[in-house]
Amino acid sequence: QSVAVLGAPFSQGQKRRGVEHGPKVIRDAGLIERLSGLDYAVHDFGDLTFHYPEMDEPYMNVKFPRTVGAATKKLSGAVSRAVGAGHTLVMLGGDHSLGIGSVAGHAQQCPDLCVIWVDAHADVNTPETSPSGNLHGQPVAFMLKELRDKVRRSQVRNVEDDSSTAVPSQLYLFVHVPTQVPDLPGFSWVKPFLSCRDLVYIGLRDVDPGEYHILKNLGIQYFTMRDIDRLGIQRVTEVALDHVLARKQRPIHLSFDIDAFDPSLAPATGTPVNGGLTYREGIYITEEVHNTGLLSVMDMVEVNPVVGSTRAAVEATASLAVDVIASSLGQTREGAHGVIDEIP
Ligand code: ARG
Ligand code: MN
Ligand code: MN
Ligand code: MN
Repeated sequence: QSVAVLGAPFSQGQKRRGVEHGPKVIRDAGLIERLSGLDYAVHDFGDLTFHYPEMDEPYMNVKFPRTVGAATKKLSGAVSRAVGAGHTLVMLGGDHSLGIGSVAGHAQQCPDLCVIWVDAHADVNTPETSPSGNLHGQPVAFMLKELRDKVRRSQVRNVEDDSSTAVPSQLYLFVHVPTQVPDLPGFSWVKPFLSCRDLVYIGLRDVDPGEYHILKNLGIQYFTMRDIDRLGIQRVTEVALDHVLARKQRPIHLSFDIDAFDPSLAPATGTPVNGGLTYREGIYITEEVHNTGLLSVMDMVEVNPVVGSTRAAVEATASLAVDVIASSLGQTREGAHGVIDEIP
């Protein structure tokens, strides 16, 4: 089995500089060695280089639409090729706007994928609901079919086809979804590809009003930190995985924003929110994802070494990112078989 690592040093989905150095600090924390130690053939594809348009005026409130559109398009192609070549892929960000490209490229190869979004934030603002205009708070909105269609047509029943009359062969229930994603310059390549029932969130604790409206209106499954307080991480993870896998076993896209962790553990990130995952909760989630045997692509995003106040803070955050990736790929806390051939 082979794992590919791809860096995406990109930061224009948000305003703080530094997150483009995420791939470097995560590699410096020993990622490749750790994955090789798990007995994978590791292919380091290096870092993508992005081209920046000279002029990129905001569209409505949205900052750098063409820049983010071009970068995510490029990433989607690279992800699609890596998955097509048979690798399990680890994408190192960069900010979370990259999720658009990563999940879209994955979906090109695996149209039936599901998405597990581990994050303090829902990242499902639309250009209209976004309070900041930052695209790293909007990637999920670009994926969801339910936010692009003007009306959602749910078939309620078939009526007998009678070609002699003008009665339509099917009756539809029209459900109006008030929040839609407009066409944004740079994003014409993105066609929504994910149904909201194939998405689940874990770790939420900072959800904007427009996002809350979308989550509730579309009936998206999510687990906040309060849910983890009430149910415990075991139950939350079990129900979350069940939500996306019970109907069908399918490839998993794990999009892991390091700010899902408590800022005491992951201080080097641009939008920290108090009251996040403990180390053990985070690792439990990734162990369980690994145990499904279905992980296909994972993102590790929003590690920003410029935000960390000390070198130790940056190293702790990067080393946590490596632990999360290794655990997603099968490093266990109980040890592993096959290390020793014969007990002496
Ligand atoms: N909800 C806020 C916004 O839309 C913050 C988003 C933070 N996203 C992230 N990937 N860290 O601007
Ligand atoms: Mn976040
Ligand atoms: Mn995020
Ligand atoms: Mn294993």
